[in-house]
Amino acid sequence: MRIVVLVSGTGSNLQAVIDAVQAGELDVEIAAVGADRPGTFGVDRSAAAGIPTFVVDFKAYADRAEWNAALTEAVQAYQPDVVVSSGFMRIVSPEFIDAFDGKYLNTHPALLPSFPGAHGVRDAMAYGVKVTGCTVHWADAGVDTGPIIAQEAVAIEDGDTEETLHERIKVVERRLLVSTLGSLAAAHSPN
Ligand code: GRF
Repeated sequence: MRIVVLVSGTGSNLQAVIDAVQAGELDVEIAAVGADRPGTFGVDRSAAAGIPTFVVDFKAYADRAEWNAALTEAVQAYQPDVVVSSGFMRIVSPEFIDAFDGKYLNTHPALLPSFPGAHGVRDAMAYGVKVTGCTVHWADAGVDTGPIIAQEAVAIEDGDTEETLHERIKVVERRLLVSTLGSLAAAHSPN
């Protein structure tokens, strides 16, 4: 199963995928890693791991439609079976998702449909819930919407800050992303 991973930042979830592949624990081929802006650590660490990288800089395009078209073309060049949004902080067009037959996987640091959007951890804390978590789902063109594949709960503890809570969620999120990709890969080539 070939995947292209899209990142906007640090890419620690991506690193978990790279580590699992390198350890022989995850049978996927990371065909490429792409970002929506230059200078991400996610792209740097992929290049260091010998993975092809590309940037489709959102700010370099006249409008969202042009950027979406360029992103679609850049990802299509690698012919992925699944595209993974791993901390990719952009909404893509329905045309992008159609181009990959809906195989657009997203991870989110909250228990969807609660707390979608860019601040899922902060919003859960602000609401005062006692349990939040993370979600891996097939993404549609909405904001963190689409069929849920896997979820796991994480308790909010007294004294948590957004950073401490997000770091605990990400420990679970990395494991859930790797195991979900493993299940998808097994279903993709059932030997
Ligand atoms: C993850 O929690 C992801 O769900 C959210 O941003 C974080 C990205 O972390 N959208 P990283 O770049 O993988 O370290």
